[in-house]
Amino acid sequence: MASASAAVAAAVSEERLWRRHMEIATIGATGRGGVNRQALTPEDAEARKRVLDWAGARGFTAAVDAIGNMFIRREGSDPGAAPVVTGSHLDTQPTGGNFDGIFGVLAALEVLDAASDAGVPTVRPVEAAVWTNEEGGRFQPTTMGSAVFAGSIPLETALASTDADGVTLESALGDTLSEMGVEERREFRFPMAAYLEAHIEQGPILEETKNTIGVVTGIQGLRWFQIEVTGEEAHAGTTPLGKRKDAVAAAVRMIAALQEWMRDESDVVRFTVGRFDVTPNSPNTVPSRVVFTVDFRHPDSPTLARLGDGIDAICHRNAMSCEVIVKETLSSFPTGFDTIVQNEIRRAATRQGWPCIDMVSGATHDAKFMVDLCPTGMLFVPCEGGVSHSEAERAAPADLAAGASVLAEAVVELANR
Ligand code: GLV
Ligand code: MN
Ligand code: MN
Repeated sequence: MASASAAVAAAVSEERLWRRHMEIATIGATGRGGVNRQALTPEDAEARKRVLDWAGARGFTAAVDAIGNMFIRREGSDPGAAPVVTGSHLDTQPTGGNFDGIFGVLAALEVLDAASDAGVPTVRPVEAAVWTNEEGGRFQPTTMGSAVFAGSIPLETALASTDADGVTLESALGDTLSEMGVEERREFRFPMAAYLEAHIEQGPILEETKNTIGVVTGIQGLRWFQIEVTGEEAHAGTTPLGKRKDAVAAAVRMIAALQEWMRDESDVVRFTVGRFDVTPNSPNTVPSRVVFTVDFRHPDSPTLARLGDGIDAICHRNAMSCEVIVKETLSSFPTGFDTIVQNEIRRAATRQGWPCIDMVSGATHDAKFMVDLCPTGMLFVPCEGGVSHSEAERAAPADLAAGASVLAEAVVELANR
């Protein structure tokens, strides 16, 4: 069957893959080179419809599950066999780039298209997955669609999530689903033979080491917290400092103490306060409320547990006269990917002549939640300067095509097993 997978890899079209990236990049374009296509917005729906149009034109079928994850299927010669699934997400950060997520979706669709162009049947069906709300910028937490699919977050919890304007995910999802018009429904945790995800690296290693393909061996652990600090509104000109319950003063003190706690000479710890919302957000009123977020990551489980478990007490110790509630919104321990999938990716990259290295992912991905369901793996391609979660994110057409070709070969190999 090796010739079948090589034929599909050879049919990957760099021109089509790039053209589709550039077309999707117009949906939510900010005018500064990036995109704002956050989960379950009209832009997300439009991008989904564009992908569905491309799929429909080739006769591929589509189904959605109850959290809006989308599955596009190229039938296998044994339709009853569990499919090989590959995909990623097409939502972005508020100031996102043109490759994070969408590359994995378009590479997956390219696998289906290339198999049809090459006239290669597979025994197992092959499906392109589009996971809902991977980014977690609008609705928290991140990787929501895949987490709900895998049973790590209850559907009801996800549906109740609200954005900054108080819109529930349930209502935004309803709007998106009616825009999409996909009728076929899928169950969560349907059997998959394997799951593969292609992604830009989002870091500098491939570029610095002059490798084209990263064989991802695992994903570092991640814990998200939401910290709510409650004080009391008061007049900024008249209230003595000693009488205030100043939520910003307390939150700033907490963050400084957390930064100290997370200090790491080896520079492995990743600690980010990415959101800081102040109420009432007026220059001359002592702030009564702050909600801030913590994104904390580490590749080592005991360190992830120890440092993360310290966050609650540190916030309470530094609350001054305010109240504080620390809520952990996501906990995802370090993940190792399956050697079967790693080997297929490495073997395909080597046969195609791409320099490749093994690497651990610093970013999290939907693949994380497939690990308990089926053999799972990922491949990375370089992005310029390692820049991502930025409008300055860039990737080269030839590298994207190399990634799609390696993905195609590995997927077809696994689909013929
Ligand atoms: C995914 O976007 C992450 O935050 O790692
Ligand atoms: Mn991503
Ligand atoms: Mn991202």
